[in-house]
Amino acid sequence: MHIYLYIVAAILFLLGIKRLGRVKTARSGNLVAALGMLFAVLGVCVEAEALSWVWALIAMLVGAGIGYLIATRVAMTAMPEMVAALNGLGGGASAFVAMAEQIEDSSVLTLATFGAMMAIAVPASIVIGMATMTGSGIAYLKLQGKNLAHPIAPAQRNLANAAIGAAIVGIAVWSVYSTGGWSITAMILLTILSAVIGVFLVMPIGGADMPVVVALLNSFSGVAAAASGFVIGNQMLIVAGALVGASGVILTQIMCKAMNRSLLNVLVGGVGDGKVAKDAKDYKNIRSTSPEEVAMLLDGATSCVIVPGYGLAVAQAQHVCANLAKEIERRGCSVRYAIHPVAGRMPGHMNVLLAEADVPYEKLLELDKINPEFQSTDVVIIVGANDVVNPLAREKTGSPIDGMPILDVDKARTVVMIKRSLSPGYAGVKNPLFELDNTLMVFLDAKEALQGILDELKTI
Ligand code: TAP
Repeated sequence: MHIYLYIVAAILFLLGIKRLGRVKTARSGNLVAALGMLFAVLGVCVEAEALSWVWALIAMLVGAGIGYLIATRVAMTAMPEMVAALNGLGGGASAFVAMAEQIEDSSVLTLATFGAMMAIAVPASIVIGMATMTGSGIAYLKLQGKNLAHPIAPAQRNLANAAIGAAIVGIAVWSVYSTGGWSITAMILLTILSAVIGVFLVMPIGGADMPVVVALLNSFSGVAAAASGFVIGNQMLIVAGALVGASGVILTQIMCKAMNRSLLNVLVGGVGDGKVAKDAKDYKNIRSTSPEEVAMLLDGATSCVIVPGYGLAVAQAQHVCANLAKEIERRGCSVRYAIHPVAGRMPGHMNVLLAEADVPYEKLLELDKINPEFQSTDVVIIVGANDVVNPLAREKTGSPIDGMPILDVDKARTVVMIKRSLSPGYAGVKNPLFELDNTLMVFLDAKEALQGILDELKTI
């Protein structure tokens, strides 16, 4: 019976992931995948011998309750932290499952009785799971803005990591050749060293790169789960873990591509760790304007593109932004939204925000679709975006955003940039867009500025 439940679960997972690939179907994709998880859990319950259904039901209700509370309380801007925490718990759970197996069978498990598959799966689950747990913990703290000091000087870090890596491999081999007390000793050492390497690898990575690291750790938590699936002989865990592992790697690739950086550069590059270029606030030709003037500009426009960025999320201005767009359209001007793949702080951040405000999906255009349109656009309104519209990315200046594909807003007739000050974006570099002749700055909080423009527009 359980095998049928597993097959249904695996099909639902695949359908769910497929639907997650498009903004329009993403919400239902989430529900389909969650239903798949319910089937998977039921399958495990049916498969388990001597299971108390009462306890299983209590565990499911407690888990669902905790999940509901976390998901409904977390702020949209704190979503990457939540994902990091959940990845860490997933990795930790896989490691503990493998440890339990090793402790339970330590007297009988030698390589001969283990079999080659288990000999790889048990240490792999412990190492990847523990490193994911502690690495995700560090990612969580960094995303919360905590300043963490690496205990080892930069010059010695690679050497220290290599030494720990070599020790992990050696102890992993020892753990599968030993029995009894030695096997447990090896397991404890492996656990400690894996926890340390997780911390050491994530600690030097810059804050802006943390979402990429979280995607990578998500993939690792899947690999750890698949390995623990081999440990306890559960096919469902292997399938689900492999799906998470593969999708996490693909997401990591997409994010690296959108920033025009290699994964290695992300892991050692240190972008967004609070470093700000010396000339980042050095501007000469700044023209600032008011919501009233922007309303007048929009009154005579026939095409408008709105570019949302991280500031829109901070100000929670998505609803007023959607209302302003409706008012502009009511006056006969077309409005579309330009979505950069890494705008905000997590994948799909802008899509989620705008979906919250019921902006129709067909109005959201991705980089390659909207870029040729800017030339014929009357007014571009940039709401709290900075790096994703920074023309400096096109030049070879050695800045952290070198080569990053950007939205070509500077080609539009007029650019209205809403932000509170001349501060740089996450990459900490100067933005020459502020100084262009066709740029007008509105130095206000995004919500206040958009509401002001909307109010003024209604009076014209
Ligand atoms: P940023 O370049 O970070 O710029 C956001 C701007 O919003 C800031 O310059 C800030 O200027 C302004 N702002 C903040 N609060 C505001 C408020 N309440 N009202 C109005 N403006 C406000 O944002 P972006 O253009 O969206 O770029 C995202 C950055 O994150 C990129 O560097 C990207 O590589 C990085 N990143 C993103 C991701 C994902 S997956 N999205 C992953 C890794 C890295 P003021 O302080 O002057 O207001």
